[in-house]
Amino acid sequence: MQRYPPLIDPYNRRIRSLRISVTQRCNLNCIYCHHEGELTPAHAHAENEITIATIGSLVRAATAHGVRKLKFTGGEPLMRDDFAEIISNVPRLDDISATTNGTLLEECAHDLADAGLNRVNISLDTLRPDLYQSITGHDMLDSVLDGVAAAVDAKLTPVKLNMVLLSGTNVDEIWDLADFARRSGDVILQIIELMKSEGGGSGSGSGSGGGGGDGDVDVGAIERTLRARASEIITRDMHRRKKYMINGAEVELVQPIDNSEFCAHCNRLRVTSDGKLKGCLLSNDGLVDISNASEEEMHALLERAVALRKPYYAAGASGM
Ligand code: 5AD
Repeated sequence: MQRYPPLIDPYNRRIRSLRISVTQRCNLNCIYCHHEGELTPAHAHAENEITIATIGSLVRAATAHGVRKLKFTGGEPLMRDDFAEIISNVPRLDDISATTNGTLLEECAHDLADAGLNRVNISLDTLRPDLYQSITGHDMLDSVLDGVAAAVDAKLTPVKLNMVLLSGTNVDEIWDLADFARRSGDVILQIIELMKSEGGGSGSGSGSGGGGGDGDVDVGAIERTLRARASEIITRDMHRRKKYMINGAEVELVQPIDNSEFCAHCNRLRVTSDGKLKGCLLSNDGLVDISNASEEEMHALLERAVALRKPYYAAGASGM
């Protein structure tokens, strides 16, 4: 394979991973969903979605620049009938994962593992059926729990459970979810600070831009409790995220809000479901269209998108 130079942005951040949205379609309607920062999720149609061929060319080109990690996301990636084919058509990298709501996972977990998927993140904010229904708009908690079990069985591990902190709603379930993760096998609980978006609250709004924390959830207090209860704390390179080992459970805290370190250590480039390279979740500046580009053409497009990358939190821009 011909080697190409590493992808390094003007803030000296080297791109090591791609986060590819394969669809904006979803069978849930979560109240907080940021729609991966895309502008028009309400008008999502299958015919505008990035193709298997474009994804394949992109990933092959990106690997020549040293990209080693791939995450597929949505909408809900399993809404695409060809999702397993998308996975089998990309080269085997160090880490190929998907973020899913888990509702459709039970029947296809093994097929996805056979296609080359290494692991999954499953959105799970609560273990209470009534609350699950009011957060997602659907009575599907049981399908998700079956999906978690199927993912563990198919060795799509470690499975990460994504729990978004919602004030006055699910914060008191952290320890129940940590315990559920521990009992479920090779499963990690990932606690995520809520990011508010302009269209937030409806599940169908514009969904872009606008950071800013929830304000009501005291994430600092949660972090202090995690630290006090942990027998071991590990800091990951990516976004400087911390992992806490607590009573045999592994808990991670993702805190993107007003966290310039988060931006300073961001090594991922995003791809929108309609085939555009996107430098940051919270910005729609500098999108680079890659639809139907060949592998050869992808190199220049990747370089252009990376040159346009800017950290969202201004404080992160200085001293990097
Ligand atoms: N804030 C934080 N995380 C979010 N996610 C979706 N919307 C938000 C938000 N507003 C995360 C969920 C989901 C993943 C795809 O994105 O954890 O699992």
